[in-house]
Amino acid sequence: MRILCFGSLNIDYTYRVDHFVQKGETISSKDLQIFSGGKGFNQSIALAKSGMEVYHAGAIGTDGMFLLEQMKQAGVHAEHVQVLDDVPTGHAMIQNDKDGDNCILLYGGANQAITTDQADHVLSFFHEGDYLLLQNEINITAYLMRKAHTRGMKIALNPSPMNEKIFDLPLELVDCLILNEIEASQLLANQISAQETGAAMAGYLKQKYPSAAIVLTLGEAGSVFLDQEQIFQKIYAVHAVDTTAAGDTFTGYFLGTLLQGGSVPKAMDRAARASAIAVTRPGAAPSIPSLEEVLSQELSCFS
Ligand code: RIB
Repeated sequence: MRILCFGSLNIDYTYRVDHFVQKGETISSKDLQIFSGGKGFNQSIALAKSGMEVYHAGAIGTDGMFLLEQMKQAGVHAEHVQVLDDVPTGHAMIQNDKDGDNCILLYGGANQAITTDQADHVLSFFHEGDYLLLQNEINITAYLMRKAHTRGMKIALNPSPMNEKIFDLPLELVDCLILNEIEASQLLANQISAQETGAAMAGYLKQKYPSAAIVLTLGEAGSVFLDQEQIFQKIYAVHAVDTTAAGDTFTGYFLGTLLQGGSVPKAMDRAARASAIAVTRPGAAPSIPSLEEVLSQELSCFS
């Protein structure tokens, strides 16, 4: 069983600010740093760092060659990433405020120029029982889901960033849905009240998508897994400097641990530890810890 992550690769321009810029306002940033990122890229790196063998597919422009190098250094198979001559690499403008929170403006670039020919070619290397991991930052997600399903592949979806395109996807084909509480409440729009608990939200998601295992992250309240069993995981308490890629780190470590034969509680715990460490460091992909760090850092649960 192998895993293919077909997803975005971005150049992240991260601006450190006191507060997020408001409508009509012009502010100066305190610092600019350029990082590797993109939800697909970050999740492939997290999968690889968890010890999983991972294949990444997607597209970049000629300005994004360093992303390919970083993937290879992390042990990700990058031969299915296309380099396009006429489209720039996708990028993100990220404001990182003094509390470590972020807001992100995306430019799709090559991530939005993926063709069905590329998808068919890449998927021809994968077979029944292999996993396809997707996010919502490339242009042919629905096509990939249907094609992968007809090949007998399992589909894991992180519906992030959440927008109206998610509602056009064949979500009934998803085998593992990994999302946060804001994405969950948008998927469940009109079905739940604002006061629902995480466990209740996971239950509603399971009713709506019965074929999918649900992995729901709940911020300070931890995370919950729901399939045949229900597992709760607390978060680890850390001082956050940059929350960018925390969700991607969780997704990669959760799936990577599980697909290497780990139990659900072990996968949830490793994912919580890895994402806690990631938020203590600036940047997206560079903040994702190695497995050695995840196993050796002493962390205490937030109660
Ligand atoms: O999830 C974090 C990522 O979202 C960033 O790396 C940025 O590129 C955006 O895709």
